Order: sequence, then structure tokens, then C-alpha cells
Amino acid sequence: MADCQCDDAGSLSPREVHDRLTAQRDQVRTLKEDMADKADIGAAVQLLVKLKLDYKLITGQDYKAGSPPSEGSVVQDNGPSEEEDADVDTVDPWNVSATSAKGVDYDKLIVRFGSSKIEKALVDRLEKVAGQKAHRFLRRGIFFSHRDVHQVLDAYERNNPFYLYTGRGPSSEAMHVGHLIPFIFTKWLQDVFDIPLVIQMTDDEKYLWKDMTLEQCHHYAMENAKDIIACGFDVNKTFIFSDLDYMGSSPEFYRNVVKIQKHVTFNQVKGIFGFTESDCIGKISFPAIQAAPSFSSSFPQIFKGRKDVPCLIPCAIDQDPYFRMTRDVAPRIGYTKPALLHSTFFPALGGVQRKMSASDPNSSIFLTDTPKQIENKIKQHAFSGGKDTLEEHRAHGGDPDVDVSFMYLTFFLEDDEELEKIRRDYTSGALLSGELKKRLIDTLQPMIAEHQRKRKEVTDDTVKRFMTPRPLNYLLGNDKDTNANPVTM
Ligand code: TYM
Repeated sequence: MADCQCDDAGSLSPREVHDRLTAQRDQVRTLKEDMADKADIGAAVQLLVKLKLDYKLITGQDYKAGSPPSEGSVVQDNGPSEEEDADVDTVDPWNVSATSAKGVDYDKLIVRFGSSKIEKALVDRLEKVAGQKAHRFLRRGIFFSHRDVHQVLDAYERNNPFYLYTGRGPSSEAMHVGHLIPFIFTKWLQDVFDIPLVIQMTDDEKYLWKDMTLEQCHHYAMENAKDIIACGFDVNKTFIFSDLDYMGSSPEFYRNVVKIQKHVTFNQVKGIFGFTESDCIGKISFPAIQAAPSFSSSFPQIFKGRKDVPCLIPCAIDQDPYFRMTRDVAPRIGYTKPALLHSTFFPALGGVQRKMSASDPNSSIFLTDTPKQIENKIKQHAFSGGKDTLEEHRAHGGDPDVDVSFMYLTFFLEDDEELEKIRRDYTSGALLSGELKKRLIDTLQPMIAEHQRKRKEVTDDTVKRFMTPRPLNYLLGNDKDTNANPVTM
């Protein structure tokens, strides 16, 4: 499969993508008229959706049959077309919604986004390079998609380390358990590869998007940083920064932001993020700020001016639009495209079609919840895949694929064999919903209590140490000259 839709699109002119789209649309129609096999129609529709995304990415316009691309014209986003029908899940940084009770169809998403599936061979390779058993998120397909991870591993094996970049948009004081997923995984990556990590707190983003003051957003950045530090990151290898603080103090960071801003048009961001003329200009230029940490020259204090240290970004797939844009712009400003590892979503307590929200405490488990709150929430609000009566359940068993308690255990229960036994017993009816919920309560209560204990140990002084721009302690690799391939923009 082609890796990135923008990589694909980059080799074709807008007119060529338009023509391919028209041909693909005709093919979908023919297949439907001929009542072809459902799988063939599905595959053709997926390719059509992907081509539409490509088209939107390179032109900033929606595809319209019979209207070849015109520079500068404004076309509104009309949502999924007739061919895509209601079968398309919505996944972007602001909305995640699935059309099926089983949640987002991640295989389809890989095709639509043009990323690559994390196959067993890649898990084996990560295991080999890391020199230890793959993290359960990899073993269980929770991190399911990637871009160019083989390339950073190739470089690593040639003794050229990469760095990690991830982030958080601090919109409230309490993070939910879902927000921890990328951080837990990033901590594992940092430990096994022994490499530097930068964590961006986008307090500016939250100010632009939410009805909050700058002071509130900055305060939440500091509070959320404590939860992130409590995940166990190594202070000698980790730099956490608030955009509101760092942007103004780092000329190199700001220079990269400006380079990116110069090379991405309004049409492009409109196409990728759905911005409209009534969005404030802060939102329109914000993607450049989330893109900039993907380039090592944004952190001269860490990378000693090198602009060629490769970057790997672990995040949930909702953040991918930012990095499709970043990867598209990188070669045009003389930088390496960042690699990515994408995770699925940790579901809301009420089921995969519900949204987790900070304003609805029962929609998720929060890192501030007490043991009693965890118990009550799971007992009362965790969507169950069990049957209505005991007799029915014993006779037909439950459905772990829609059961939120089982899904949560998939994220947090370490023992593969125990998890498999729970799946078997629940499916057969030997294990009841109440018993499954109890197992989850027993897993989450100590986990959250431990997190709270570690967070208490994080003082303002610790936060300051993580957030002070400074050199980090790691080996830079051997075979590249600090000023290799200078590019002036
Ligand atoms: P934010 O604060 O929405 O989310 C922080 C991180 O958590 C992931 N995430 C989830 N992962 C699993 N299950 C969920 N239910 C879930 N909800 C959120 C997000 O994908 C993200 O990785 N704009 C960003 C902040 C940011 C960033 C980055 C994130 C700046 N630079 C680089 C990732 C990588 C934001 O608002 O994330």
C-alpha cells in the first residue's frame, strides 16, 4: 500500500488526481449497476474516498464532477458524497464518531488516510531492535497504523538515533484515561530506545478553540504536565514545553513555524481541517505550530543545531491530519518527514459510539477519580455486551467486541493469557457481566491510585526542570555532520 496519501498525491498534478477520481467514480457506479460483489464495491468506494482526500489535500477543494481544479476557488465541504454513503466514520482532531456499534473501522481508515497497517512483521522488528517483548499496545493492535517507521528503525540500526514527539491540548484540569494511552506508549519507546522526547502542550490551541482565558489554558498546561510527568518520563531525556512560553523564547522554533506557514496555503488547511472564512486567523495558522516540533532544528538546545535528526510521533489517529500536512510540507522546506505510530481510541464508558467529554464525568474514568467513583462508574455506566437475563447469558454468552469493560481490559491487563481466558469465558457465558466488571474495577483502582501517588510527588520544581529549555542527555549518533545539507529558505 502507498504510505501517505499526500506522498501519492505529490507525484500527480491536481488535474491528474481529478481525472483519476472521475474514472474511479465511474467504476463505482458501474460496479453498483452490475450488482457486483459487496467486497469489490467496498474496495472501490474506499479508493474513491482516498482519492478525494488526496484531491482535497493538494487543492484545498472538494472534488466536483465536471469541474477540474481551479486555483483559488472556494468550495464548501459538503460531507460524504452519495457513493461514500453513511458508511464513513468521522475521525479528525475535533470529532470521532463511528457508524457501527463495534466502533471505528480502522482498516478502512488506513485506506482512507493512506497510512500503513502495523503488520506482525513490524511488531517483530520493533521487538528485535528494542531487545524486549513488544508492548501490549503493539501485541494487541491498539497501535495499529504507521507512517515510515521502518525508516527510523533503519537509521537507528545504523547508529543514528531518532527523537520522539508527542503532545497534549490542555483543555481541562483532569485528563481522562484515554489521554494516557499515547503517553504510556511513548514512555515505553523512550525506555527501550533510550532517546530524547519533546512534549508539546498546546495551550495556545485551546485558547483559540475554547472559551477560556490565556491564563486558564496555561494553568491547565502546567497541571496536565504533572500527569504526564507522573507517567515516569526521564527528566534527563525529556523536554516538555508550553507553546505560550516556548514560542516566544525560541527564535529557531518560530523560524520553522514561519517557514511552514509560508509553504501551506489557506486552501490546503481548509481542505485538511475544514476551516471556513469565519474561523479566526489563529486557528488557520495553528497547524504550523503543531507541525514545527517534528523538525529537530526547532530545538537547538537539544539537537545542537542539527536539522536532520529523524522524528517519530506516537499519537491517536485523530491527530493524523496535522501530520499529513507536516509530511507534505517537510521536503519543500528541506526537512525530513516525521514518522508516525497511530493508536485506536480508548472508548467512552457508554460505548464506542459515545464521546468522552470532560463536562460529563460519567463518560469516562478520570485520573482524579476515587476508588469508589471508579467502581460506581463501571457498575452503572460501562456499556455491557452481556445478555439481558442470567439464563440467556449462560446459554448464549456475551459479546466482548462491544463490551466496554472487556475493551478497557484489552488496554490495561498485562497478562495475554488471562485476557484470552476472559474473552473465552465471557463469550461462552461462563463469565457474567458483573464478574467482568469486577475484574476491570480490580485492574483500574490500583492503577489510578498509583498514578495519583506518583502525581503527588511531582512538585512545581519538578515541572520547572522538565520545562526548562536545556540540553538533554543522549548520544547524537555518529555519521552526520552537524551542518550537513544546509538549506536556506
Ligand atoms: P489531545 O489533548 O486531544 O490528546 C492528547 C493525546 O491523546 C490522544 N487521545 C486519545 N488516545 C486514545 N484514546 C482516546 N480516547 C484519546 N483521546 C485523545 C490524542 O491523539 C493525543 O495523542 N492537538 C493535540 C496536542 C498535540 C499533539 C502533538 C498530540 C500537540 N502536538 C503531537 C499528539 C502528537 C491535542 O489536542 O491532543
